[in-house]
Amino acid sequence: MKTATSRVRGVEHDIVQMPQVGDVSPYYEPQGNEVAVFEAAYKRRLPVMLKGPTGCGKTRFLEYMAFQLKRPLVTVSCHEDLTSSDLVGRFLLEGADTIWHDGPLTRAVKTGAICYLDEIVEARTDSTVVIHSLTDHRRKLTIEKKGQEIDAHEDFMLVISYNPGYQTVLKDLKPSTKQRFIAINFDFPPEEVERKILLREVPGTKPEIAQQLVAIGRKARLLKDHGLEESTSTRALVYAASMMGAGLDPVVACQVAMVNPITDDVELSDALMEIVNAHFA
Ligand SMILES: Nc1ncnc2c1ncn2[C@@H]1O[C@H](COP(=O)(O)OP(=O)(O)OP(=O)(O)O)[C@@H](O)[C@H]1O
Ligand SMILES: [Mg+2]
Repeated sequence: MKTATSRVRGVEHDIVQMPQVGDVSPYYEPQGNEVAVFEAAYKRRLPVMLKGPTGCGKTRFLEYMAFQLKRPLVTVSCHEDLTSSDLVGRFLLEGADTIWHDGPLTRAVKTGAICYLDEIVEARTDSTVVIHSLTDHRRKLTIEKKGQEIDAHEDFMLVISYNPGYQTVLKDLKPSTKQRFIAINFDFPPEEVERKILLREVPGTKPEIAQQLVAIGRKARLLKDHGLEESTSTRALVYAASMMGAGLDPVVACQVAMVNPITDDVELSDALMEIVNAHFA
């Protein structure tokens, strides 16, 4: 599938074009009933919230679903400076004229794409407000600056992601926002599935290496309730396998992919390295 990154002042977003015959589906290993739930939500054009820790497969899942449903995917990574204009659009000076430029959300609403607002909680509150009329029965987008209201294309769908536990009281979605969504809970995949993912994502990985990495990941995640704030993600396991595939020593690969990024605490690092050493040293 063709991907383009475009930048409308202040907001960078990816557009994955409609899948074409001959395109290969993104690889996604289902963990439960998420595919069926998403399909039903899409049938009813209900907005979906993907909940789960970092690196557990939310983005990959959506790329896969967009491909299966043959819809273009517009992804916006939300950040704390993101305003509603970044999503909806703005007038820009071009020579002597001011020309209106649709933002990524408006473009998705008009063309019937799936719009993915990644980490929506990060965005300024005014940008969460613009999605309200889009996510209930109205399915309308208000373009305040133009005094316009547009009906969403019948294929348009809004998807947001949400990392539970990262929010503070000050930064959380309002109940009136949350309850407009069908929410799908993600977690790290079961052992067998995670092994399969490593083998597929990093070709050349030996099954016994995948098994050890998955085992380390599991034990490392248990430390989460013992002071560690982050969980070792499936992404981190993929990185470790990838670094080993590039010829790095397994212990070093695990350290740089699975230990150093998630903690600055010496004792916790040591505890994680102990787990790594028990498997690879
Ligand atoms: N179920 C899965 N099938 C295939 N690959 C997976 C799956 N789960 C995780 N992965 C692997 O883990 C990596 C990270 O997944 P992804 O980018 O989807 O995480 P995420 O949940 O969107 O994380 P973040 O919250 O940080 O954006 C993927 O690039 C892929 O290699
Ligand atoms: Mg993601």
